[in-house]
Amino acid sequence: MRWLVLILCWVWPAQGLTRIPLSRMSSVRTLLRASDRLESFVRDHQPDIFNRRFAQCYPPGIPSLRLGKSSERLYNFMDAQYYGPISLGTPPQNFTVVFDTGSSDLWVPSSYCVSEACGMHERFEAFRSSSFNHDGRRFGIHYGTGHMLGIMSREVLKVGSVMIQNQEFGESVYEPGFVFVMAKFDGVLGLAYPSLAEEIGNPVFDSMMNQNSLTQPIFSFYLSKSKLNGDHEGELLFGGIDETLFTGPINWNPVTLKNYWQIKVDSIQVQGASSFCPHGCQAIIDTGTSVITGPTVDILALQQLIGATPTSIGEYLIDCTRLQSLPEVTLVLNKVEYVLTSESYVRKENLGDTEICFSGFQAEDMPSSLGPVWILGDIFLSEYYSVYDRGQDRVGFAKARHTH
Ligand SMILES: *[C@@H]1O[C@H](CO)[C@@H](O)[C@H](O)[C@H]1NC(C)=O
Repeated sequence: MRWLVLILCWVWPAQGLTRIPLSRMSSVRTLLRASDRLESFVRDHQPDIFNRRFAQCYPPGIPSLRLGKSSERLYNFMDAQYYGPISLGTPPQNFTVVFDTGSSDLWVPSSYCVSEACGMHERFEAFRSSSFNHDGRRFGIHYGTGHMLGIMSREVLKVGSVMIQNQEFGESVYEPGFVFVMAKFDGVLGLAYPSLAEEIGNPVFDSMMNQNSLTQPIFSFYLSKSKLNGDHEGELLFGGIDETLFTGPINWNPVTLKNYWQIKVDSIQVQGASSFCPHGCQAIIDTGTSVITGPTVDILALQQLIGATPTSIGEYLIDCTRLQSLPEVTLVLNKVEYVLTSESYVRKENLGDTEICFSGFQAEDMPSSLGPVWILGDIFLSEYYSVYDRGQDRVGFAKARHTH
């Protein structure tokens, strides 16, 4: 028997764990601002403003914009910052994607796409791949800037060292708007629940679980503002938890609605006083956005509490010289306090020689059947290492270890 075990171990080397280095790059918002095109872009495209303006016209609890699916967010990836590599096909064709816990589809640009955005990015060439499987169904994804259209295909997907056979994915043939032209990523790889992926089929992580690629049905994100080991700013680990990247215990939160990675928030406090959602509310953990969003009334009050003042395009400025004196914002999740100092919730951008400071909080009215929803993006996730557990349907957080 013993030699059989030995042979098995030799044939199947340590599988079940794969590390994806993540790079932090400028968001589309930052790039637009640097090229002086942000204001006109927001004026022409910003659906949030529409949403905000007309939110009060709808009864509470009703999604303020109905676009077919009730779960649909007006998602635009304007603030996405962390990207990593994948490959599709045989021989492999490489793409850079946003690993996004706030959606569930995988798509990359198609070689048949003639949109300006596709011209700026890697495009999948089905005719160059020997493992390509035609599916042919069409898909559409609604983004804040318009409707993306494409066709579905199946391919060998390689994520780190994991090979997934016959993965459904979308090849976009039409990509709307300017965001995708500016974006530093080619496509998106969604890591939320399958119920959010009606458009394209089996999400990648479900395929990984079904094809027994992982020892544990979990993945973990480490996001940092500075470089880790000198070459990248973050790490996505499939199949495990990297104990070297955080300190203290992991505190778990049950998923309340298996759609997004949605959990309950006990309360949100500013400088110790309970200020928002005193009776509890909901939060989505979203690696595809950099900010923290909440209901408009709460965010407006919060901006006042941190002394942020609005610009003409709905961003909120903070005086950089005042950062030291700003209050802490504390989220209470499953009885555990998560403190954000101004160093973490203020976003700094350099415009020429000037440093500008923005509030990392944005209004986005996103109702759910369980109450108003906050979105916790990279501002939160770069302070707290996050673990997504599909086996026990829970999200864990621990204090991220940073080297600055
Ligand atoms: C694709 O990425 C892999 C791993 O980073 C690299 O070894 C390979 O050369 C890349 N292929 C192409 C065509 O760029």
